[in-house]
Amino acid sequence: MLIMAALTSCGSRVTTVMVIPEPASVSLSGKTVAADALLSISAPSDLALEAQVLADGLSREAGMECRMASRGRVRLSIDGSMGEEEYGLKVSRHSVVLRGGSAKAVYYGVQTMLQELRSYDGCLMCGTIKDSPRYAWRGFMVDESRHFFGEEKIRQTLDMMASCKLNRFHWHLTDAPGWRIEIKSHPELTSIGSIGCHTDPEAPSAFYTQEQIRDIVAYAAERHIDVVPEIDMPGHASSATRAYPELAAGDAGSFTYNPGKPEVYSFLRDVLSEVAGLFPYEYLHIGGDEVFMGSGKWAEDPYIKALMEREDIADIKGVEAYFLRQIAPVVDSLGRKMTAWDDILELGSGKCGETLTWWRQERPDHLYQGLRDGYELILCPRLPLYFDFVQDETHTSGRRWKGGVFCPMDSVYVFPDRILDAWGDAEASQDAILGIQANLWSEVVRTMERYDFMTYPRIFALAEAAWTSADNKDFESFSKRLEPIYELMDELGIFYCDYRDISKHPEPKI
Ligand code: ACM
Repeated sequence: MLIMAALTSCGSRVTTVMVIPEPASVSLSGKTVAADALLSISAPSDLALEAQVLADGLSREAGMECRMASRGRVRLSIDGSMGEEEYGLKVSRHSVVLRGGSAKAVYYGVQTMLQELRSYDGCLMCGTIKDSPRYAWRGFMVDESRHFFGEEKIRQTLDMMASCKLNRFHWHLTDAPGWRIEIKSHPELTSIGSIGCHTDPEAPSAFYTQEQIRDIVAYAAERHIDVVPEIDMPGHASSATRAYPELAAGDAGSFTYNPGKPEVYSFLRDVLSEVAGLFPYEYLHIGGDEVFMGSGKWAEDPYIKALMEREDIADIKGVEAYFLRQIAPVVDSLGRKMTAWDDILELGSGKCGETLTWWRQERPDHLYQGLRDGYELILCPRLPLYFDFVQDETHTSGRRWKGGVFCPMDSVYVFPDRILDAWGDAEASQDAILGIQANLWSEVVRTMERYDFMTYPRIFALAEAAWTSADNKDFESFSKRLEPIYELMDELGIFYCDYRDISKHPEPKI
């Protein structure tokens, strides 16, 4: 299908293209070149993977094989003078030149071309695109503890993320209902801890073996996506304390580890060492959220009481801070940057770790404090970036803020412009904001249908919010550029929420 409707003209030049996210600058002549005129690619060996991804796309569109050649119609190269994620694409009737600051940047140029081929019936638009992202961190989080979705769904998610230039996959692998990652030094984490899910404590064991994790991390790396594992502590730990009751604060299955027991720290050192061995990316997330949900009786626990006396700790917040101060050097010794939810700012522990994921939109003070304390900030406030929140007034399954406010696609799209405007320049030090991320928590997401429905197409709005400068964002244009993506999702059998006609795909129940 040839879709020209969304293109707006500026003189004779066309200044937008049917691609999400909208590139930084577009200048098109209005002419096109078909894939079958572009069936040879030249690229240096360090772009072999990117060249192959493009060759597969061109072959698919042309119905003929695209081959590698020393003087190809399509030329890919790395240009050291460009930014790490910056690319330039020049398309004429006879050739394509794609330059990028790194293999990753060239990969993004390839993704732009692949989307064009879909949008324009196997053609590329002639002209020039210059592009680079607004934010370095463009993330998506999936919670597989509450409900487990498995390799195939995660691979599809990584494919879709890559297609819209999202580059961080935050993997919430442990929480109260189930432990989802094999740890060889502590096998009961999976033989016991992986049984159950949020809606069924007896659901069959579900977890990733280390081999599966390595495969998925490699699959993500081929798509230039870094994977950030989250091992939540000291709260949200019931699956671990069920498997190893000696780590519990109180009874087996306690919500928190017991910060008064030395064996908790050696256990966590073992776990984090294995995790660091599986995930090469420099960030490691240690949770740190909502400890209050399980720390109410800490002061009565003999081990914690002894710790408080020994270390002269006045209250349970101090115990939590002590716990964090034990974990931070472990993460550091593994060569990883420690990341945590913004809750840790309440502990008065001083700066602990490098990065915060700010999730509570009702606590802007935490954002300011995080900035003042020198943290790198990843913005993922519930409103509008928790994808377990419903997205339409008529939807009834899923979360709402205080029973009412929800997260429609346009609220995702405009983030964080209004909120940054509201903060003003002095506090919202843009340099310290690494980027933005949406989180798919899964208490209310049990089936694959609901996973799709809550994720798509909001994830494309997230991608444009993370990549495209505020000046270049336009929701109406975005909605038109979604058309070919709806078609792609139909082909892939993805059960998305259809914003063109909200009643078309009924909301799946939990
Ligand atoms: C969170 O939603 N507990 C980070």
